[in-house]
Amino acid sequence: VNGSIEIPVVVNVLYNSASENISLAQIQSQIDILNQDFNGNNPDFNQVPSLFSGVKADIGISFVLDNVIRKSTRKSSWGTRDAMKSSKRGGIDATSPDTKLNIWVCTIGGGILGYAQFPGGSSSTDGVVIDSRYFGNTGTATAPFDKGRTATHEIGHWMNLRHIWGDTTCGTDYVADTPTHNTANYGCPSYPHYSTCSGTPVEMTMNYMDYTDDACMYMFTNGQKSRMMAIFAAGGPRETFAQ
Ligand code: ARG
Ligand code: ZN
Ligand code: CA
Repeated sequence: VNGSIEIPVVVNVLYNSASENISLAQIQSQIDILNQDFNGNNPDFNQVPSLFSGVKADIGISFVLDNVIRKSTRKSSWGTRDAMKSSKRGGIDATSPDTKLNIWVCTIGGGILGYAQFPGGSSSTDGVVIDSRYFGNTGTATAPFDKGRTATHEIGHWMNLRHIWGDTTCGTDYVADTPTHNTANYGCPSYPHYSTCSGTPVEMTMNYMDYTDDACMYMFTNGQKSRMMAIFAAGGPRETFAQ
């Protein structure tokens, strides 16, 4: 891993209604957003408060659309138990999951925007799932999750990042340069939003690994970058992705 990683992306589209069969333009909009968000090229990167400007990171990972696979289905929602990843269960099998990031785009249901598999799991289910209404920033993309940040967040998990609040009150994300958050933040918190955890730090509500609206999350940190890079290094769980 000498500073740059390029990830081929296979987008698997499962549609029951015509609107779920999203356009290539909508798919490409998501790829473009990933390339911005993971390279410090997002237009809102300059909104990071000066308190955090020393830790905001250009991850240096790029994404290339490798293939789009489409399948019509009688299922109107897929849940979160990986059925969409299996042709035997009506879905689409992953393509080369050890060298390509598979994204399944379908209706999940239950108010879920997306979900991811962490590194180290079964390769047949590896990848991320994003609801078609929260994918990309055009076509059927729906506010306030219409800026493609659901995929940025889920791919953060796929690269081993935890939620910034550590999934428990004042929990840890195992990243030293992110502040300790009370819990998940939603909507678009006004700045500064103080934690009541030890030391009452200002929370980094604009981090992609919080739960704020798409327009209100626009940074990763250097510490998060280290966690992501470690999985692509020799001996790491995604070493097969590094050239
Ligand atoms: N797994 C989270 C959920 O489904 C994704 C949150 C993404 N947040 C966002 N602003 N797009 O709720
Ligand atoms: Zn998450
Ligand atoms: Ca932290």
